[in-house]
Amino acid sequence: MNFELTEEHLTVQQAARDFAQNELLPGVIERDTEQKFPADQIKKMGELGFMGMMVDPKYNGGGMDTISYVLAMEEISKIDASASVCMSVNNSLVCWGLEKFGTEEQKEKYLKKLATAESIGAFCLSEPEAGSDATSQRTTAEDKGDHYLLNGTKNWITNGKSASVYLVIAQTHPEKKHKGINALIVGRGMPGFVVGRKEDKMGIRGSDTHSLMFTDVKIPKANRIGEDGFGFTFAMTTLNGGRIGIASQALGIAAGAYELAVKYAKERKAFGKHLSDHQAIQFKLAEMATKINAARLLVWQAAYLKDQKKDFVKAAAMAKLFASQIAQEVTTEAVQIHGGYGYVKEFHVERLMRDAKITQIYEGTTEIQKMVISRELLK
Ligand code: CAA
Repeated sequence: MNFELTEEHLTVQQAARDFAQNELLPGVIERDTEQKFPADQIKKMGELGFMGMMVDPKYNGGGMDTISYVLAMEEISKIDASASVCMSVNNSLVCWGLEKFGTEEQKEKYLKKLATAESIGAFCLSEPEAGSDATSQRTTAEDKGDHYLLNGTKNWITNGKSASVYLVIAQTHPEKKHKGINALIVGRGMPGFVVGRKEDKMGIRGSDTHSLMFTDVKIPKANRIGEDGFGFTFAMTTLNGGRIGIASQALGIAAGAYELAVKYAKERKAFGKHLSDHQAIQFKLAEMATKINAARLLVWQAAYLKDQKKDFVKAAAMAKLFASQIAQEVTTEAVQIHGGYGYVKEFHVERLMRDAKITQIYEGTTEIQKMVISRELLK
């Protein structure tokens, strides 16, 4: 067993760390307060190769492994989880899904631009009445011969407004239940497609989360991903990998809060000595660091299995379950260590605490991860 990172991994990690410090940290509090999407920063991330890290270079990607991706995700998430959710959805749901299951024409037309963030992608599964219960899709894609007619509403869509390529899951054959679902590529600006309300969220406030409305949107058959009825399997398979991305986001949020807590504890004095000289604080830091390390090992294990083309479904769900749980605990403790300063925006940890919560909700709630893990254990 080898836990050493390669030179290439260390280079990617350092590049992401530098980018986060130099480009994401300035203005992160303002973007959170004003709910401003980090458009310029995402564009630069595309130019640096962070938006299509695992995509084959022939489609403009970085051709990197999943370990490189989770290392970069951790570093970006330490500073700006709103940027990292955009990165995660683009990399592990949209680019990966298209590269794995798309046609050559779809890859040429969409993937090449997504891999450099010339286009941003969105993954549209959730609906007002189909969140965790994803088989109950109400959005319909009626088969009209050479095209589908798309009708329905999607909710809580990450990159909802900033995207230009949307992978939309919709029901074509209701009698076949989940085997009648299709995944369609929908372009921004297609007649009948309207970007709806922006959500005013507790955390990841710089990320643009919208509802989407489709009314008689004509989608060419060439925009279907996979065979007729493949859409639900497409969504589930893609989400398995997506969970590694969100697990690394949760890990990064926790690690970012921990690093701030250590720095503060070494600087701040109380009762005549630094906080870091108080055993009560030392014990907190020891627990936080142990939880982060355990989460990191789970994330790396899931990424490793995926890279080895081994079954990673359970490992990804375990990594997401655990990392999102410890992100709650670690960020809460980081606020506690900061005392009153932790409760104000200037010190960053309150934002990380708010950002942490979503990692227990999107790409499958904590309960969904337990369902996935237990099914894998008992099958
Ligand atoms: N991987 C691959 N296939 C899977 C799977 C998985 N993890 N889980 C289920 N499936 C397959 C099953 O094998 C089955 O296929 P077959 O009939 O061909 O065998 C099919 O899916 C239906 O499975 P179930 O009968 O088990 O369906 P269910 O309704 O009992 O449970 C579920 C399905 C696992 C709960 C699923 O609905 C689910 O994962 N829900 C959570 C959805 C989710 O993660 N949403 C996140 C939205 S996207 C997002 O958040 C992105 C973003 O913006 C950040």
